[in-house]
Amino acid sequence: MSICLTVLVGLAILCLSLLGTLSPYFGEDCAYILRSVRLGARLVKYKRVKPFYSLLDRFLDAARAHPAKTFVHFEGREYSYGEVDKRSNQVARALQADARLKEGDAVALFLGNEPCFVWTWLGLAKLGCPAALLNFNIRSKSLLHCFSCCGAKVLIVSPELQDAVEEVLPMLREQGIAVYILSDSCGVQGINSLSDKISRASDEPLSRDLRANVTIRSTALYIYTSGTTGLPKAAVVTHERVWAASFLQAACGITADDVFYINLPMYHSAGFLIGMAGAIERGMTVILKRKFSASQFWDDCRKYNVTVMQYIGETMRYLCNTPKKDNEKDHKVRIAIGNGVRTDIWSEFLDRFGDIKVRELYAATEGNIGFINYTSKIGAVGRINFVHRFFFPYTLIKFNIEREEPVRNSEGLCVEAATGETGLLVGRITQRSPFVGYAGNTQQTEKKRLYDVLKKGDMYFNTGDLLRFDHENFVYFQDRVGDTFRWKGENVATSEVADILTMSRCILEANVYGVKVQGHEGRIGMATVTLKEGKDFDCSDAYKQVVNYLPAYARPRFIRIQPCLELTGTFKMKKVKLVEEGFNPAHIGDPLYFLDPEKKSYIPMTEEIYGAIAAREIKL
Ligand SMILES: *[C@@H]1O[C@H](CO)[C@@H](O)[C@H](O)[C@H]1NC(C)=O
Ligand SMILES: *[C@@H]1O[C@H](CO)[C@@H](O)[C@H](O)[C@H]1NC(C)=O
Ligand SMILES: *[C@@H]1O[C@H](CO)[C@@H](O)[C@H](O)[C@H]1NC(C)=O
Repeated sequence: MSICLTVLVGLAILCLSLLGTLSPYFGEDCAYILRSVRLGARLVKYKRVKPFYSLLDRFLDAARAHPAKTFVHFEGREYSYGEVDKRSNQVARALQADARLKEGDAVALFLGNEPCFVWTWLGLAKLGCPAALLNFNIRSKSLLHCFSCCGAKVLIVSPELQDAVEEVLPMLREQGIAVYILSDSCGVQGINSLSDKISRASDEPLSRDLRANVTIRSTALYIYTSGTTGLPKAAVVTHERVWAASFLQAACGITADDVFYINLPMYHSAGFLIGMAGAIERGMTVILKRKFSASQFWDDCRKYNVTVMQYIGETMRYLCNTPKKDNEKDHKVRIAIGNGVRTDIWSEFLDRFGDIKVRELYAATEGNIGFINYTSKIGAVGRINFVHRFFFPYTLIKFNIEREEPVRNSEGLCVEAATGETGLLVGRITQRSPFVGYAGNTQQTEKKRLYDVLKKGDMYFNTGDLLRFDHENFVYFQDRVGDTFRWKGENVATSEVADILTMSRCILEANVYGVKVQGHEGRIGMATVTLKEGKDFDCSDAYKQVVNYLPAYARPRFIRIQPCLELTGTFKMKKVKLVEEGFNPAHIGDPLYFLDPEKKSYIPMTEEIYGAIAAREIKL
């Protein structure tokens, strides 16, 4: 009943929007809307059946339908759907017997990108246990924090990460945490071996009754999101959200016959939800990599007949930075799905590697709103369409960058941004688009909620992202709040400045941010850059580049050279430490330059210059 209703409403709105928008994107809009309505209807169906149909059920159906099909390809070894199913049964049975796990017990996974990640997770799902996906780069205090905030009592770790666990073992033991390592034996007291128990366990299927109380609103996963400051937060991901994210592949037209290349860490939603969960939803083959390697990328694609690649942040830039080869258009990749590519790199990527449909999307792990670029308009992250907006109400509101808060009118309500104007994206929190929040952190959860947005008493999710809608209904990502700084009363978008810097002859990558200067409002522009191989910093060329393309307020006054830039697990550049370190040459060992307008060049930064700035003898 409700499915029909959903479809009918969808079609009715579709017809309305057709009348209004006979645009060149009409066909693509329709195809996308129909696909979304179909996916929406499926989700409604999965919710309705009792017990609800989970992604695990989808996997079990796939394992029954094509047990011999390769599910995961990893380091030369293939694992079929049937094999992964059996292994996950063994994992579930071993943990059930040894750790006494039962429905609802959270278990933290501290594993690299390897196939056991997948079957361990499936095994936990079979027991009805949510999994917390720990970032394998975190250590000590941060590791303990991430582990504790999801309330897990069991930690499963891969042998490569044993040292990191030993470091915090006394604290874990104090809290009565059971630690299991995926090896056949372990000499350390307090760390239990698990692989031996898994291989001894039966691979018979487990009863569905073990997870009888799990509903579509139950927690399936905890995925950690890094804030701009402070410790990571554990976003609660429900089974419903797992479904919604896994549908992205289908929405992009990916089929069961495609071959998907996962090189992003599975502890993030891109790698795990869009990549792995999406692959299970499609019933496809995955080529899994421990980590991204630009030099192996295209060889792998050719070797394994990869048809869909995933990217994030700087992946495409790294691929474009590899030396040109004659055979670089020789591959079967037809779709790239991800987010965060800059327009110039996007064009270069298509030029070099051929006609690949780039499906840029915008979404946050914990957010309740997302967009997808289904028309291939360069630079856009998606399109506004009526159906989408009807089901998932969102709006852009005016934002005061300096105070980092929404603009409010005399009645205390927010003000919608005009078409073409940059604003803060907020998504209304409803039953259909809930915001579950962060585990064990009501304060951070509350910080993401925004009240009295368009009406008194309404509630929205604050994405923290600045977007712009244009007159053709395209959606453009502008900046993350915090990736913009203000200097001389003007907003400076760090990504724009970085784009200009990297166009100069010597600069490979640039991380742009604003630093405080005593006695000045706002923050002045600074960049930490890496140089192209074999190049020295060319003071005069960099100066020309910056002056030719950037307004005075946006020019980086200080440039710091580093051999490489520190990145987060998702290739985002780390800024906080650099911002704190500032531009005092007495404290910075790296080469440091100062933009000198009189000399019309960057010049080496000295303590004299630093002193003169402090004494206000140099005007900034
Ligand atoms: C499911 O919930 C019922 C009622 O609350 C409870 O009696 C039962 O033990 C639960 N099942 C599991 C597997 O936890
Ligand atoms: C890739 O495709 C070619 C031709 O269709 C086929 O011969 C080859 O076996 C495939 N390779 C893999 C790893 O599936
Ligand atoms: C959308 O995709 C197309 C091609 O795939 C691309 O050219 C366009 O820049 C994208 N739009 C945005 C905003 O990224």
